[in-house]
Amino acid sequence: MEIQKETDVIEFIKSRRSSKNFIFKRLPQEVIKNILECGRYTLDEKIDLPYRINVITHPTVKLMLAELNPKNQEIFETAYCCFVVYLDLEKSSDRTKDLLTIGALIENLLLGIHAIPSIGAIWIDEILDKKEEVNKIFKLSTEKFELMGVIAFGVINEEIEEFKKRERGERVPISDFTDWY
Ligand SMILES: Cc1cc2nc3c(=O)[nH]c(=O)nc-3n(C[C@H](O)[C@H](O)[C@H](O)COP(=O)(O)O)c2cc1C
Repeated sequence: MEIQKETDVIEFIKSRRSSKNFIFKRLPQEVIKNILECGRYTLDEKIDLPYRINVITHPTVKLMLAELNPKNQEIFETAYCCFVVYLDLEKSSDRTKDLLTIGALIENLLLGIHAIPSIGAIWIDEILDKKEEVNKIFKLSTEKFELMGVIAFGVINEEIEEFKKRERGERVPISDFTDWY
């Protein structure tokens, strides 16, 4: 494996941005599996995984998600794939720890997506107020699975994203979120 310089890795993390504009284009299953591979490295096998991911490429299922979250309709239609991420309530023993684990899982997936040229992603939580309806799409019991979020990803529409870059916010300074002792 080629060892990257520390600064390259830091710049890679810093260069990840959300993409909300996609060109609908098929992604090979190998690409999707490579991204999921990054998720696989969140925990090791000794720990009962508290999460479950539904991998959605079927246009009808994406349309059903879009109907529940009209604000993001275009994202659901144009992103080739969505990961619908669940907390597995039967495997969850410590809610705080498991929610943090899912945060780490999602970040690993987002960075995996960012590593693939031309592919971008958006983390959608605006669908969480329709948790029950999302479960119905997949015939999942709300007692067993709790929706945590959706990651939509696909080929970036560079032209629109480039234009939207101007609207993006800056990052807050480190001093805004740290106390040093
Ligand atoms: C927990 C979480 C949930 C988010 N949910 C949404 C969402 O529902 N819709 C959306 O447009 N962006 C969503 N985002 C993306 C944020 O708006 C975006 O990450 C933020 O503006 C920073 O931009 P960046 O991802 O380009 O760094 C979410 C981000 C996080 C971390």
